[in-house]
Amino acid sequence: MKVTSADIIISAVKPEQYPEGGLPEFALAGRSNVGKSSFINKMLNRKSLARTSSKPGKTQTLNFFLINENFYFVDVPGYGYAKVSKTERAAWGRMIETYLTNREPLKAVVLIVDLRHPPTADDVMMYDFLKHYGIPCIIINTKADKVPKSKWQKHVKITKETLNLDPNDPIVLFSSDTGYGRDEAWSVLQSYM
Ligand code: GTP
Ligand code: MG
Repeated sequence: MKVTSADIIISAVKPEQYPEGGLPEFALAGRSNVGKSSFINKMLNRKSLARTSSKPGKTQTLNFFLINENFYFVDVPGYGYAKVSKTERAAWGRMIETYLTNREPLKAVVLIVDLRHPPTADDVMMYDFLKHYGIPCIIINTKADKVPKSKWQKHVKITKETLNLDPNDPIVLFSSDTGYGRDEAWSVLQSYM
């Protein structure tokens, strides 16, 4: 995929603000701080188009990035961040649930999970939620640069087993640090457009 343009169109908190036009969308889901925004930047070869942070809770709104005037990445706030109040968490849940379950142009959710550790209970809940609603799901096992290559396959297997991954759902080893897996991730995404 040759990225010729990438622009933030809107940071939305409610459906009236979502872009019109019906272009395909891919939403990023995952634990807070797992690397959703970094994934977007690496895929687009842009250093800081999507804002990242070493502190969890950076992304707070649904951020729509228009790519090549042709499709969107939607950066989504992460789950599992302990320092968020109950009220905020409930509002977050509604915003994301509304988007994920009612959005016609949504082609697939890109679920980002950390290769270093087994998926958390929240990761399993998110995957089950997506399966329950029949939302197509692509797993990105990220931060591969933090795991010795000799252990990659073992960790991928743990991810698959812990999520009870549907064998039809793609899983891609990835690193936003080195760019490993970028071409494979693009070809998987393109097959969902
Ligand atoms: P929230 O917006 O808070 O939900 O977080 P996020 O999922 O968007 O994470 P973000 O992309 O901001 O990355 C969090 C931290 O992890 C940053 O310090 C990144 O530099 C780091 N990071 C993300 N991906 C990778 C990776 O593949 N390898 C390494 N080594 N670090 C990564
Ligand atoms: Mg983010």
